[in-house]
Amino acid sequence: MKVLALTAGRKNGNGEILAKEALMRVEELGAEVKMINLHDYRITPCSGCESCTVKFTQKGEAPECVYRGKDDMELIMKEWLGADGIISVVPAYSFMPAGIYRVFCDRHLAYEPNFHKQVGNPDYFRHRVGAIIGNGGSTRSWMSLTLECINITLLTQDIKVVDQMMVNRAPRPGQILMDDGALARARQLGENVVKGIQNYDSVGFLGDENLGWCPVCRSNVLSLGQPHWNEEGFAIECPVCHCGGDIEKDENGKWKFVIQEDGCRKSMLDGSGARDHFFEIQETMRKYFQNQEQITEKKKKYADYRPASIER
Ligand SMILES: Cc1cc2nc3c(=O)[nH]c(=O)nc-3n(C[C@H](O)[C@H](O)[C@H](O)COP(=O)(O)O)c2cc1C
Repeated sequence: MKVLALTAGRKNGNGEILAKEALMRVEELGAEVKMINLHDYRITPCSGCESCTVKFTQKGEAPECVYRGKDDMELIMKEWLGADGIISVVPAYSFMPAGIYRVFCDRHLAYEPNFHKQVGNPDYFRHRVGAIIGNGGSTRSWMSLTLECINITLLTQDIKVVDQMMVNRAPRPGQILMDDGALARARQLGENVVKGIQNYDSVGFLGDENLGWCPVCRSNVLSLGQPHWNEEGFAIECPVCHCGGDIEKDENGKWKFVIQEDGCRKSMLDGSGARDHFFEIQETMRKYFQNQEQITEKKKKYADYRPASIER
């Protein structure tokens, strides 16, 4: 049993301390552990070439990222894809997960398990569980998209997220050491990852049920529904797991998000959402290739127009 903790904060900072607490418990329970900090690696930002999605959806083949072998991404992904458990620990920067983590996750597109499964790549047919920690200097109001964004990055990687934890009000490195409750909770999170690996088929969410609005993924953010590419969608949708329904008042007059009967038909938790998106990309890109000549012609006007830029 292998568990990888991936951190994105300062060296010896609060995130690393929380990750280590979780890993110490994981190790006590008999698993092999590794920890990396993204600051120690070279990761080229995704160029947006889309050669991976073009190959997936237009050719039905498993792609390789154009940067493969040119930076440290492959090294990290080998561990990430080979682990039974992943713990992502990321600090809040401007309400969101720190950019360095986002740069790493943008590169996941070429490694999307559900897209690889769609083109029959057997390397991606394996079970993984995960847990996430978002740490910050403030309260949830200033970390409002942090857990939600980190959660999305594991769900798109086909990882079953069994626990989520938010750590507030620890701005300076090591300040988390004044919060015994957070350290104990991190150990519990490590234990929950091991439980999840041992009981993959039956395990549900082991964290705080009241973490957020969504009863499926515990996101604390909801979005107004909009039509989907191939159907109407939902009145209200969870932007993380894509389950949908409406908000209703319970018997105590408290608002709750109620998932409608078929509201998980595009869920990010069981691969159906990713599969649906695969076909969406397939269709929208096909329209591009059908009209490529016309688009190339129309693009000339914009290529020829060169507004002043900033001299370097
Ligand atoms: C550029 C920057 C932006 C930040 N933005 C937020 C924020 O929006 N919300 C918050 O709660 N903390 C914010 N913080 C505080 C960090 O989340 C906090 O220092 C955290 O403990 C860093 O984790 P680390 O010790 O693992 O590096 C920010 C820090 C930096 C450097």
